Amino acid sequence: MDNNATLTIGDNDFTLNMLEGAESELAIDISQLRKQSKVITFDDGYGNTGSCESKVTFIDGDKGILRYRGFDIADLANRSNFLETSYLLIYGELPTSIELSSFTERISSYADLPDDVISVIKALPAKTHPMGVLASAMQALGGTYPQFCTNNRKTDLETFDESAALIMSAMRTIASTRHRFLQNEVLPKSNPANSYCENFLNMMFRNDSDSTEIPPSVESALDLIFLLHADHEQNCSTSTCRMIASGGANPFASLAGGVSALWGPLHGGANMAVIKMLNEIHEAGDDGSRFIESAKQGKTRLMGFGHRVYRNYDPRAKILKSACDDALEALGLSSPILSIARRLEEEALKDSYFVERKLYPNVDFYSGIILQALGFPTDMFTVLFAIGRAPGWLAHWKEIAENGKKIHRPRQIYQGHTLRAYQELENR
Ligand code: CMC
Repeated sequence: MDNNATLTIGDNDFTLNMLEGAESELAIDISQLRKQSKVITFDDGYGNTGSCESKVTFIDGDKGILRYRGFDIADLANRSNFLETSYLLIYGELPTSIELSSFTERISSYADLPDDVISVIKALPAKTHPMGVLASAMQALGGTYPQFCTNNRKTDLETFDESAALIMSAMRTIASTRHRFLQNEVLPKSNPANSYCENFLNMMFRNDSDSTEIPPSVESALDLIFLLHADHEQNCSTSTCRMIASGGANPFASLAGGVSALWGPLHGGANMAVIKMLNEIHEAGDDGSRFIESAKQGKTRLMGFGHRVYRNYDPRAKILKSACDDALEALGLSSPILSIARRLEEEALKDSYFVERKLYPNVDFYSGIILQALGFPTDMFTVLFAIGRAPGWLAHWKEIAENGKKIHRPRQIYQGHTLRAYQELENR
């Protein structure tokens, strides 16, 4: 392939380098374009813009492929678990058993929150959304470990192993602490002998006096949800993390920004919106067909459907669909909203509106049903997405901190007033 592209603007030709990715994706390198031509590119929503070179995750949205560090998501879902996959994402290779034990132990060692962070969690207004609590507590966590949070890249990288373990561990304790506080209940202590998910589920739901244990099927369903959410290349929240990190900010500040970006209903907040939508359809006595019609007319959106990158079935949704059946069966539950979800999917996949626009179920379509069956309150669903996404955000923070040279700073096409007369100010 000729590794140049030629751009003609008026009478001038500009030669631009081509970049080729590891999976043969091609990109035109425009980093010198403005210098050469005084022209910038415009790409509303960044659908055609590569913001970085990355080695973490590969997606082919047309083929429905998702790989973490080269491993297919289905293979990881079948043969790995959340902490091993987190290590893979953060450090680039699968851990040896010694590496995995020390990673797990380090995470366990940070399960208890510092008192100052607990005070912040309790002091936030009662109606603060759990995602707002998570973002605030993340900043407070950084404040209680100033040695991991220096905004000096070299130092923050030297302490990264500790801060990554602290963040991954603390996120589940932050979520449980707030949940228990609102329920007026005491948070049980985590037990280092238990797994990451078992500890989280105990902190959320179990009391010391309970005689029954959390069923292993519940623990493995949660572990799978975390693993499937662990990274998804340059999405809105990960790009936000990278953007913040590009300015030299520490991991706590970068991840607090990622949490805020994830909150929106078009991104991580979609898992809550799916359950709200399914409940509304159920309460209205609709079998889903009326809702599909209103989505086609643009009056509403079929939440959990469509994706900026996937123009095919989201591979995570495929895995979650069957996990959803398994989890409900293991728990002996039936869910009327699961039947509605299945029907919506079936109808949408043969409807020309959805077919022509290549709209398929995404990761959020079935995850909410599983989380609801596991007992999580709906407004915590996006927090669970964030806990799962933490290793991905950390991997991207590390990539920027190790290799990033430039602060991220897009340009714009200004469409406001041109110079206005100063008299306007004087005559106010
Ligand atoms: N229901 C009905 N129509 C839709 C939907 C939907 N869920 N998604 C897209 N469309 C239509 C849209 O109206 C537009 O139609 P037209 O060409 O006639 O104007 C066309 O499909 C293209 O949509 P778009 O909004 O330009 O596509 P996008 O790539 O900017 O948006 C999306 C992607 C995920 C924001 C969007 O599909 C959506 O809003 N989906 C519902 C929310 C959702 O499930 N979000 C979770 C995404 S997966 C988790 C994550 O990674 O964040």
